[in-house]
Amino acid sequence: MSRAAVVAGLGAWTPPTLVTNDDLAARLDTDDEWIRTRTGIRQRHVVGPGQATSDLAVEAGRRALASAGVERAGLLVVATSTPDQPLPATAPQVADRLGLGTVPAFDVSAVCTGFVYALATAAGLIATGVADTALVIGADAFSTILDPADRATRVLFGDGAGAVLLRAGSPDEPGALDGVHLGSDGSQHRLIERPGGGSRTGAALAAAAGGQLNGQLLAAGDADGHAAAHDGYLTMQGRAVFAQAVQRTAETVRATAERLRWPLEAIDRLVLHQANARISAAVGQRLGTPADRLVSNIDRVGNTAAASIPLVLADAAAAGDLRPGHRVVLAGFGGGLTWGSVGLVWPRLRGGPIPAAGPSDSPTL
Ligand code: UT7
Repeated sequence: MSRAAVVAGLGAWTPPTLVTNDDLAARLDTDDEWIRTRTGIRQRHVVGPGQATSDLAVEAGRRALASAGVERAGLLVVATSTPDQPLPATAPQVADRLGLGTVPAFDVSAVCTGFVYALATAAGLIATGVADTALVIGADAFSTILDPADRATRVLFGDGAGAVLLRAGSPDEPGALDGVHLGSDGSQHRLIERPGGGSRTGAALAAAAGGQLNGQLLAAGDADGHAAAHDGYLTMQGRAVFAQAVQRTAETVRATAERLRWPLEAIDRLVLHQANARISAAVGQRLGTPADRLVSNIDRVGNTAAASIPLVLADAAAAGDLRPGHRVVLAGFGGGLTWGSVGLVWPRLRGGPIPAAGPSDSPTL
């Protein structure tokens, strides 16, 4: 009898500090109308001083455990590309703070597709009997890696976390994950990147400090001519990413639907990574999905990277837009490039989904 990973809990969290389009327009050459019409975003939440990705992850993880009515999970996977620090991974610390003890805990790095990759990884470990339950958290604090002067990225990204509790169950019960499809194209890795913080720029930093690496005196800057000071910022070639996002997201949804033997019109809710409302609309058009089957919260949270899919899931489920029995496909796209999707029939959750804090709780910056 085969085992499947079944969704049993859902929770999300956004930090209280709110940044509106007008706040950004006061500091950058941009305006509310451009941001709303080009992206669909009205506001985003950002971490405060001293807050990091693990803080967001712990809050979302706690909510997902409570939603499932359990206190523990046997495995923790954190999807993030803004870990608290490059080493060690963020997940073990999150596991400790959630009181999960010495469970296996690791990070998955697939940028905005991270949550789908992490779900697939955890589902595989449950299916093979390595774990009976798993907490999968998508958490990112992109506000900490944005160039304050880059209006193209500053307006898009926000911070947050979302989490799902998985348990072992049967492949034919509601909530069972199925139809996983994953892909990547590393030839396009420069389209979205944060070059610093790794081994390639470690050499440049050593040189800037007048140092040596492996016995060799280094010249300032790496082979690609990056200046070390700017390597910590995210860069993105927006138009090229937009085109790839539409094409790859539509392809991965089709692949998952085929694996599930669901005709595209049988999908009740399409839960896409919230990158840009225009990207979601274009994917919906390609697939012939009516707009009211696309869930969305990008207006309130912006692009929250690995957190985006569980955040919009929690919001949609709490609002009653995602209901038990709905056939749902989750699909992500992001840096790498990476993409992936997975399907499930939405289950009835014991404690209900616990959404992120509403804007009414939030002071503006
Ligand atoms: O999570 C996955 C990764 N990220 C994404 O999926 C994002 C994908 N890309 C996008 O969402 C869009 O490409 C952006 C929102 C980043 C940009 O929108 P766009 O419609 O593709 O605009 P564009 O880059 O073609 O720029 C159009 C104009 C340019 O001015 P000129 O050259 O026409 O004079 C930009 O300089 O808009 C300008 N612009 C802005 N103007 C006001 C770019 N950013 C801004 C801004 N405010 N924030």
